Amino acid sequence: DGDLRVRGISSAIRVVPNFPKPGIMFQDITTLLLDPKAFRDAIDIFVDRYKDKEISVVAGIEARGFLFGPPIALAIGAKFVPMRKPRKLPGEVIAEEYVLEYGKDRLEMHVGAVQPGERALIVDDLIATGGTLCAAIKLLERAGAEVVECACVIELPELKGRGKLDGKALYILVESR
Ligand code: PRP
Repeated sequence: DGDLRVRGISSAIRVVPNFPKPGIMFQDITTLLLDPKAFRDAIDIFVDRYKDKEISVVAGIEARGFLFGPPIALAIGAKFVPMRKPRKLPGEVIAEEYVLEYGKDRLEMHVGAVQPGERALIVDDLIATGGTLCAAIKLLERAGAEVVECACVIELPELKGRGKLDGKALYILVESR
């Protein structure tokens, strides 16, 4: 039953108050990874949703999108493309900057990893302000791909990141507790 699985996933995510700084309720997915049943349920729910959507690219966002993206990609028969923090990828890259609470960060993707016309799914653990996913969408669209949907395990709804996605569909498993 879908709802039971989602409840198990939600309770396997540890909430750590005041990490990494006062006032933040950190959503710790490492405890989900420690629970093979809940971890598998999370992957299965995504795979059921995306297996028949002709997706050829799963793009995962560093670092925690690298934990959920590859098992989904393998199960649906898509390639996996890492979207990395600056200066990690050795080949030619395209880059998008995004704004953080203090300062900026950047996501990079290898040129040639994605071909024009490919159908892409973006995977990360969590959407907060939406800045990271927004940069990922832009990178894929600059490469000529069609972003079918963004998929995250957790949403922090009070930050309204969904509104930053330019009308792009967002699918989540659980809301933050
Ligand atoms: C976290 C999270 C998302 C992003 C969401 O990553 O894993 O990638 O923030 O935030 P946003 O919606 O406000 O953009 P973080 O920046 O902590 O990087 P890390 O996973 O490499 O530690």
